[in-house]
Amino acid sequence: MRAGLVEALRARGCPWPAPVEHHDTLSSTNDRLKELARDGAPAWTVVLADEQTAGRGRHGRVWTSPRGGLYLSVLLRPAFASAALLPLAAGVAVAEALGHFGVRAELKWPNDVLSEGRKLAGILAEASSSAFSLEWVVLGIGVNLDEGALPAEVRAHAAALSVEGGGSSVVAALAATVLVRLTVWYDALERRKASVVAGWRERSVPWWGEPVEVSAGDRVLRGRARAVDERGALLIELADGATVSVLAGEARALRRVAGRENRE
Ligand code: BTN
Repeated sequence: MRAGLVEALRARGCPWPAPVEHHDTLSSTNDRLKELARDGAPAWTVVLADEQTAGRGRHGRVWTSPRGGLYLSVLLRPAFASAALLPLAAGVAVAEALGHFGVRAELKWPNDVLSEGRKLAGILAEASSSAFSLEWVVLGIGVNLDEGALPAEVRAHAAALSVEGGGSSVVAALAATVLVRLTVWYDALERRKASVVAGWRERSVPWWGEPVEVSAGDRVLRGRARAVDERGALLIELADGATVSVLAGEARALRRVAGRENRE
């Protein structure tokens, strides 16, 4: 599929500027690309795998990665201050790419990609910094493509992109579209960072004003989701009226059931 991806990128007017490594099986594309990053690989190096045996999600979760899905990591070496918005920019790029395949994807803060409320794709950003600057960021992107290949417990809350014909040409086409959109939003981060937050807001799940629960480190906050600010932080209004901003964490909508709030 390496040739397929490189070709698909070229066909989209985006000859790739860095190595693309393709593996039949890997433990995790993020882990492989982190090794390459430490060895000095250039920005935009890509690692792809047809399946992962130890795919990782955010917050130490497992990312089930059977054959047929998209598992891709890309190396970035941002030298600009708005790099903190990268996870949001990546979410917008993935949602937009899925739009090219007929899916109306929505973003749940910070960058879960949902289709009709179910998780279709996920993004894991891992970074290394020196005392003075950010050295690199590995962005790992996983998209469920074959619902039948997912175990029942994952299928219960996941969505999958089913494209007629399926197969490796769809994986290459989707990977290429994701990468092209990522180059566009990366450029926007550097020059027009407000457009990244605006792009994210346009695609966000419509939960503003609704009760949410947010885990941030060892804290769990409950309140109403109010907005995402220009730094990409989620603003939550607590019961006492105070507003807190959370830069990193995991958010869940709480549904009102007969006057109480229920976990969704
Ligand atoms: C999430 O929890 O939402 C993030 C999931 C990220 C999964 C991708 S698949 C490619 C890359 N390699 C990994 O081990 N994880 C990421």
